[in-house]
This record gives sequence, structure tokens and C-alpha cells, in this order.
Amino acid sequence: MSTFPVSRPRRLRRTAALRRLAAETALHPSDLVLPMFVKEGPTGGRAEPEPVPSMPGVVQHTRDSLRKAAHEAADAGVGGIILFGIPAVKDGRGSAADDPDGIVQRALRDLAADVGDATVVMADLCLDEYTDHGHCGMLTADGSVDNDATLRRYGRIAVAQAEAGAHVVAPSGMMDGQVGAIRSALDEAGHGSVVILAYSAKYSSAFYGPFRDAAECAPRFGDRSGYQQDPANSDEALREVLLDLGEGADMVMVKPAMAYLDVVRRVADAVHVPVGAYQVSGEYAMVEAAAANGWLDRDRVIMETLTGIRRAGADFVLTYWAAEVASRLR
Ligand code: PBG
Repeated sequence: MSTFPVSRPRRLRRTAALRRLAAETALHPSDLVLPMFVKEGPTGGRAEPEPVPSMPGVVQHTRDSLRKAAHEAADAGVGGIILFGIPAVKDGRGSAADDPDGIVQRALRDLAADVGDATVVMADLCLDEYTDHGHCGMLTADGSVDNDATLRRYGRIAVAQAEAGAHVVAPSGMMDGQVGAIRSALDEAGHGSVVILAYSAKYSSAFYGPFRDAAECAPRFGDRSGYQQDPANSDEALREVLLDLGEGADMVMVKPAMAYLDVVRRVADAVHVPVGAYQVSGEYAMVEAAAANGWLDRDRVIMETLTGIRRAGADFVLTYWAAEVASRLR
């Protein structure tokens, strides 16, 4: 009689085919959403896409290079594209954010026409890329962010983005009541079918560092800890998610991803809407930098991080590797 245990987990790991059969989590191109940056060119001058030094492989697109890259991403089968705009001129109220001729609205019209049938076109909805002070909202005289004045701006931006063809608007400013304000603005303007993806649990994170170079939006003074969440908390994330759903969010998101996988899991267990996770700029930069030094196997680490985020419960992942990984999976 055998003295070994009857249960031998290694049996299911013996061949690649057995491992594939037993796998609980799979990645599909349609689970991946590609964040893209488009920058307004100099008036009259011919712009070139500009590399983002802290995010090797990521560029600030021109309208033309954006169209080409969006086609490639859609051909690779990504689930969506989310657009961030960098206007040539910034001011106190972020006027370019809802200008129908602003860079994002122009680029959204290009994308909706070019790839709008093949993939989901999303617009990040915030003010920090458009304000000269770099905060996500309107400021009061003493320099604090005025929640309710900001909501009125967000409503107008949502309508401008919807009119430019965005299928999804994604408010990322963490103002109280932002989802409700955006939902009513959209509905009143006849855009009842535009989806709201709420960045519900967005933490005040140092992992956004490289993004602030890419989007040229580092705050001029102070930081975002008065509106973004404290990394110490996860009950608060659930409160934010439930508030957003009550205000009409169609999908919710946790951000960043890798340092917050417990939050992804709690949210996925608590709600029955699609849950996204944003693998942010700093997560991308860490892996690229280590790989460039020969310290990590880049391709395996990328797949492992994305599988981990999906395993934690994310239905889809925003990642700067979306197009590359989608084509690898096809
Ligand atoms: C705000 C916004 C930020 C990111 C997405 N939307 C930056 C911030 O809050 O400072 C970060 C994304 C990333 O780091 O990849 N509009």
C-alpha cells in the first residue's frame, strides 16, 4: 500500500496541455484597454509624436500618429482605447477640455470615425491636463478645489466628449457627486446611451509619476490627497463604488492595480457590474526599467502582472501594453 498522499496537485501541472486545461484565469485581447495620449501640435508647424522618457515605448501622439496606432490596436483586438488630451494652451478653468474644437474632441471624432465600429472609444474625463495649475478641478480663491463648481465643468466636458463620438466617458477626478452630475448632463443633452466608467476607487498614488510627464499635468502646488483616496483604506473604496453605482455608473474601476489587488477583489465580490483595473504609468515604468537592465524577463513579467490583475477579479485592465499583448494573444 502506498504511503504517499492520495492527492497530488502536481499531476495537473505535468504537461502544458494539462496546465492549460486546469487554468482558472485567461487573458483575451478584449479584456485589455489601451490608454493613448494626443497632444495638440504647434499652430502652423508640423508635429511629430514625442516619446515619453519615463515610459519607453509610449508617445504623445499627433492626430495622424494616433489614428495609425489606434488602427493597429483595434486590429489586434483590444477591448477599447482610452484617450487623454494635452492642449497647447491651458488656463484656470481648463477651457480646452470641453471646446468642440479642442484636441481631444477632434481626436475623438477621428477615432469614432476610424475605429468606432471595431473597438470601444473612451475618453478620460478630468481637468488636470487642461488647467494651468494642474489640479483636477476648479479652484477657490484660497487654492482649494471647489467640488461643486467642478461638477458643472465635468457635465459640460461629458457632453462635448459624447458629441465628439465617445462611447464611454471615464471621470477620474474623484469629486463627490461627479457620476450623478455627468449622468444628468448627458441625459439632458440626449446622450442617454453613453456609458460611464467611473474611476471609483482612485488612490493618491506615487505610481502616477510618469503619467504626469506624459500628460504634462503635475500639480503646480500641493498634491491630490484632498480628493484622491488614502492608500491605507479599502472600506472607503467600497463606499465610493456603491455611491457611484447609485449615481448611475455603468462600470467601475480601481486604480492603480498591482498595489491594490485586495481592493480589486473586494470590489469584484461586492458588485455585479464590469470591474476594471488601471495598471498605471509607474507600474509600466518599473517593469520596463528593470527589463532594460536585464533584471527581469520582460514578456513573462508582463503576462504575469496582467494575469494577476485578472485573477484578483478585474474584468478588464487598462494597460499601456494592451496592443502589444493583444497581438501576442491572437
Ligand atoms: C487624472 C489621471 C491620472 C491618471 C489617469 N487619469 C493622473 C493623476 O491623477 O495624477 C494616471 C494614469 C497613470 O499613471 O498611468 N486625469
